[in-house]
Amino acid sequence: MPDPRSYFVKTFGCQMNVYDSERMAELLEAEGHTQAASAEDADIVVLNTCHIRERASEKVYSEIGRLKHRDGPKPIVAVAGCVAQAEGAEIVRRAPAVDVVVGPQAYHRLPDLIARAKERPVETDLPTLEKFEALGKRRKAAPSSFLTIQEGCDKFCTYCVVPYTRGAEVSRPAAAILEEARRLAGEGAREIVLLGQNVNAYRHDRTDFAALIAEVAAIEGVARIRYTTSHPADMTDALIDAHRTIDKLMPYLHLPVQSGSNRVLKAMNRSHTAETYLAIIEKLRAARADMAISGDFIVGFPGETEAEFEDTLAIIRAAHYAQAYSFKYSARPGTPAADMDGQIDEDVKSDRLHRLQALVQEQQLAFNRAALGRTMPILLERPGKRDGQLIGKSPWLQSVYVDAGSTHIGDIVTVEIEGAFANSLAGRIAFAEAA
Ligand code: 5AD
Ligand code: SF4
Repeated sequence: MPDPRSYFVKTFGCQMNVYDSERMAELLEAEGHTQAASAEDADIVVLNTCHIRERASEKVYSEIGRLKHRDGPKPIVAVAGCVAQAEGAEIVRRAPAVDVVVGPQAYHRLPDLIARAKERPVETDLPTLEKFEALGKRRKAAPSSFLTIQEGCDKFCTYCVVPYTRGAEVSRPAAAILEEARRLAGEGAREIVLLGQNVNAYRHDRTDFAALIAEVAAIEGVARIRYTTSHPADMTDALIDAHRTIDKLMPYLHLPVQSGSNRVLKAMNRSHTAETYLAIIEKLRAARADMAISGDFIVGFPGETEAEFEDTLAIIRAAHYAQAYSFKYSARPGTPAADMDGQIDEDVKSDRLHRLQALVQEQQLAFNRAALGRTMPILLERPGKRDGQLIGKSPWLQSVYVDAGSTHIGDIVTVEIEGAFANSLAGRIAFAEAA
């Protein structure tokens, strides 16, 4: 075993990176390393990076710069995740402060790579399920815990780097997933969030995604199930039906549409249209009337006209979102859209983004206001800013602030909603027992 040292894993990007970071922390703890309070104090700093938009990768290089100029002894710096995969050896050339580069499919080799830091190893093999089998030291599970069940993507949307950085679509065996879910439940998880770039495309042998959800729902101690991210093309009738039949499956779905213009959707190589997307939402709401929908939007895709952008506003009005994430198109080297004609001015993108976000804010606020005066079960997840305050989640993924009283993180309590804002709710605990 190497000398015990302190480590800090800093996560950028999506929830799958949050999950990977947790696994890397477990592996480092198995080596005897202990978690530092911040990157500033750690002997080993792992930057788990995101490459999805240009800004995301820029942040990594500025973080490396900060570490380089840190006071005291220099830490071992490992760059993990999608920037590591996309840029590989280029990172060790460009950034002398970096000692280790490890892609998202190879993080199980991190302890070994850190031991060989002097050689500045670069490990970017793709793809494998091997990493999931690497066992670290168990840590207490969060009340809402992530569980990656599927990785990679074969969809090749023309703007997106994921198929290149995460590799081809691979599903983990159901037995391994169920074992991990049971372990998480045993360590205090009440909610399991099933993760994948294309989570609803999950299939392993004869188990499809709807069947997997049913099996997770049968695990004692699991009270809530969520999943993200889904592609409209894989929204099967069986999955839609699961929202009607499985109570533990929360009435919330993140279903990115990206654009409301069929011409733009085609140029993006999305396999759905505005109409087929809205038809899925209609089916979901027929299966479960209170289904909350969230989405992702890209504005200023190459060639997007003002009229096409307005089609995106129109689909937002038609879908009634509970939440939405929106981005200016950002050209990613190596993707087809980066070389398309008709790249849009930054000013135009900014203007469209503001208009879209104003509409989404309105819908979000309306959605939250509809909760006023209602009582709902809230899973208490973390402390709030004020003393005695806790933050939990409603079934519809709204953040809810409450005064804890005698309740604890991990409890599911019945809350009466008394305040509604654009990004959160506030309420009063009506019953402390599980609802
Ligand atoms: N530019 C802007 N947004 C992007 N996304 C993915 N690639 C890009 C890009 N090149 C957005 C999509 C996706 C979300 C995770 O990030 O909306 O759903
Ligand atoms: Fe990227 Fe499209 Fe795959 Fe989502 S479905 S990860 S946007 S290529």
